Amino acid sequence: MRTIIEPFRIKSVEPIRMTTPQQRDQILREARFNPFLIHAHNVIIDLLTDSGASAMSADQWAGIMRGDESYAGSESFWRLQEVLKDLTGFDNVLPTHQGRASERILFELIGGPGKVIPSNAHFDTTRANIEHSGAQAVNLPIPEAATPRLRHPFKGNMDVAALEAFIERVRPENIPVVMLTVTNNTCGGQPVSLENIRQVKAVCRRYNLPLFLDACRFAENAWFIRTREPGYSQTPVKAIAREMFSLADGATISAKKDGLVNIGGLLLIRDPHLFKRACDLLILTEGYVTYGGLAGRDLEAMAQGFREVVEEDYLGYRIRSVEYLGQKLVEAGIGIIEPPGGHAIYIDASTFAPHIPPEQFPGQAVVCGLYRIAGIRSCEIGSVMAGPRAKASMELVRLALPRRVYTQSHFDYVAEACVELWQRRSELRGLRIVDAPEVLRHFTAAFEELGAP
Ligand code: F0G
Repeated sequence: MRTIIEPFRIKSVEPIRMTTPQQRDQILREARFNPFLIHAHNVIIDLLTDSGASAMSADQWAGIMRGDESYAGSESFWRLQEVLKDLTGFDNVLPTHQGRASERILFELIGGPGKVIPSNAHFDTTRANIEHSGAQAVNLPIPEAATPRLRHPFKGNMDVAALEAFIERVRPENIPVVMLTVTNNTCGGQPVSLENIRQVKAVCRRYNLPLFLDACRFAENAWFIRTREPGYSQTPVKAIAREMFSLADGATISAKKDGLVNIGGLLLIRDPHLFKRACDLLILTEGYVTYGGLAGRDLEAMAQGFREVVEEDYLGYRIRSVEYLGQKLVEAGIGIIEPPGGHAIYIDASTFAPHIPPEQFPGQAVVCGLYRIAGIRSCEIGSVMAGPRAKASMELVRLALPRRVYTQSHFDYVAEACVELWQRRSELRGLRIVDAPEVLRHFTAAFEELGAP
């Protein structure tokens, strides 16, 4: 059979509250044109993020009941540790409440003034935590990543020559770690090849630098390696994931993505000395080492989530769903980052609304348009998110797909809405910020719509 179906049946459902265009116009105005400020029950399809929004399986819910809530040495922790050891090869595993808690602990230990941390591209919270420690975050993606329509099988790769030149310039003693984000969220959810990870690792070895993965979406990355990298089509995804982790000296993980849970994170560290220091800091700020700020039941759900996420029927359906939505938009002539990544479609708002200049936020205009037309919540990744002092490299709108939550007909609805908005794109209007905080303004900024173009 050619049709790839959702490889699950639905046992428990959540109603979606329908709204009319008139109601949505009113709601959008009350939220000052910022969908972060809209109550979730006023959203029909929520594509704001794929993080913490997964549907859990019956086995995960069973784990919730089995959770051992002992303060120390919880059975749930040992089960989680076993699963992760098998999946990653790491013995030293710390649970945290989410990805950015792992980042904060790591960079508090190895960051600090004068230090510089290169990556293929840091996610916002990673960059913010590095900078919070006093260190500097630097992105070294391959040049292909800057052109939305240019197709490259591993557009998330790091520019290895640029990394070497960078290390020579800033000197290895100022670089506490090299990072690779898999998949590369900032560059469109694009994968990193095993060949690239190996090359980066070889450079790290030469300069005696540790390599850490930001491995939130490691399973989606492993699926792309299996389907696109020569020599891996017969290798099980789990073995590919294991190989990715074998090249790393540590990893920060938000389990809210490929852990298939609503809350949870991990910090993996090979070096026993650094691991010991991370344990001490975790106890100080998150909780004891066998729960790290989570309940025992959360650890059980995570353990089961990490087992399920490498199942190939699941990953085949997952990646196909994103590609299916992407194809429909491309067929209609809408510019997106190509090829579609693992967890989201990124619309190129500069070609969707070319009549709106960056200072009038074309991405935010498309975000507002999608909400008005169909109650779809999406996220601007462009001049609004970049803030007043930085220049956005692209004006994007991210449609992030929560895992196992929406069906094919939901995606047909989303595609129809995008195409309808595309046909009426000349009606989109720019925006002006009327109130915003200094940092991370996209969460709470208030906007005003400008007059008709
Ligand atoms: N690293 C990457 C690559 C991420 O995408 C995220 C979160 C984090 C780290 C931080 O993890 O949220 O558990 O603290 N990304 C979400 C998103 C928020 O919408 O892309 P967290």
